[in-house]
Amino acid sequence: MPQNFDPLPGDPIYLFEQEYVVQPHPQAPYLPYRQKAGRARVYQLLNKEDQYFALKEFKKRYRKPALIDSYKNLHRVENFEGLRAAKRRIVLPSDPTAKRYPSLEYAMLMPWIHGKTWFDVLGQTREGESYPDLSIAIELCDRFLEIMEALEKAGMAHTDISPGNVMVGFDPIDVQLLDLEEMYMPGVDAPPEQNTGSAGYRHRSGETTWKPEGDRYAAAVLAAEMLILAKPALARKATDEGFFRGNCEAPEGKARFKDVRPWLKKVSPEFAKVFERSWFAKSLEGCPRISELREPIKKLTNSSVEPSVLSDPGVVWKLLGAQENQDSSMGTPLVSESEKLAATEQRVTNDKSHPKRAETPRSTQPSAESKEAVKTPQEIPVVGSGALKRLPKRLIGASVAFLILITAVGVGVWSTMYASTISSELRLVLGALHDRLAGHQRQAQTTRRLQRSVRLT
Ligand SMILES: Nc1ncnc2c1ncn2[C@@H]1O[C@H](COP(=O)(O)OP(=O)(O)OP(=O)(O)O)[C@@H](O)[C@H]1O
Ligand SMILES: [Mg+2]
Repeated sequence: MPQNFDPLPGDPIYLFEQEYVVQPHPQAPYLPYRQKAGRARVYQLLNKEDQYFALKEFKKRYRKPALIDSYKNLHRVENFEGLRAAKRRIVLPSDPTAKRYPSLEYAMLMPWIHGKTWFDVLGQTREGESYPDLSIAIELCDRFLEIMEALEKAGMAHTDISPGNVMVGFDPIDVQLLDLEEMYMPGVDAPPEQNTGSAGYRHRSGETTWKPEGDRYAAAVLAAEMLILAKPALARKATDEGFFRGNCEAPEGKARFKDVRPWLKKVSPEFAKVFERSWFAKSLEGCPRISELREPIKKLTNSSVEPSVLSDPGVVWKLLGAQENQDSSMGTPLVSESEKLAATEQRVTNDKSHPKRAETPRSTQPSAESKEAVKTPQEIPVVGSGALKRLPKRLIGASVAFLILITAVGVGVWSTMYASTISSELRLVLGALHDRLAGHQRQAQTTRRLQRSVRLT
């Protein structure tokens, strides 16, 4: 008997001859962990091996056999960096579970990606909860562009780079793309309704993104945002539709572009130039390639080059952190305002303790990267301010150790040179003392003898 799929947390569901359990929402355990989006509802499931999965249940309008082709095409990219969500299975209409719950026809089961969506990050920086350290923002931006560049090289495009479709992790630094059903790939049939991108990331031409150049503009905007959020004064202006909200023709887009220009130039004049070319390009094809966009960011991640803004007093060293293997969350500031300001007055050498990118699949703990979720603050080490704070203490410690060493060496040399003199002088003193004692003893014996003889007489 067909039924509505409206599970409660803890309910089992059988897919591909395995049992999965619907997970509770991290902030409301009596509700299922479910994300409602434009075309689908996404549930978090757990299997017997404690692995987390996402089950994407498409809305009726989008539940089409074409999803089978999309599923098959995704095999081509399932080993690409940043495309772990491509590794999936599809629930065919013949599946017993689809027969029981018809809304699960063509549903996709894929790995659950831990982290937080760029949408969440925008929201949390806007609320002033925390901001990414600039060096972390640069690493994140490089990782994002690296993934986009690999797609570009393969002649492919995601076609809807936007805050809900980009998942980020800060510890380690990682980026994963979601919502992959309509990826452009050479030789693949176009979807019936072609995308033109999401608000705030859509090129002014309004052309379809179903083409190899489809991601150029949106990727440039999102990469710029990654750098922009490191400057709190700008980050507080972020919206659910990103930072710019409009393109170079819209009044708000124009004003916001003007606002961020000096900052981007400070971070990297070269990146600012390439971004500007994307911003003003007349078409997607006219936007610079993603590899061009990445080049200056790659240089910044190189240890020998530092962005000049690290000494900008406008930068507040707050931290945006999330432990990947725990519920997604924003970090809280780890240093006081005065420490942060002090930190900005000095340059920082490239710190090798930066969180590194994930090379291997991450832990499978549940995460709370929900648009509705309330976050639990987590912390990751501050890069920059902590190192600066520790610097004077290290100097004092080194100086004291040096003084002790010099003193020890001096005493050693001195004692070697004068050892014989000391010992002869000591012998003289001891001898004198011995003589005196012996004299006293002799005197005492004489006295006792005299007393005895007196008594005898
Ligand atoms: N594999 C996954 N792991 C973790 N969360 C996921 C996963 N897939 C989707 N989500 C969550 O569900 C949300 C919606 O997913 P997705 O973007 O695929 O749905 P959609 O309906 O196609 O979106 P859109 O509104 O862009 O059309 C994402 O923003 C993300 O929060
Ligand atoms: Mg989406």
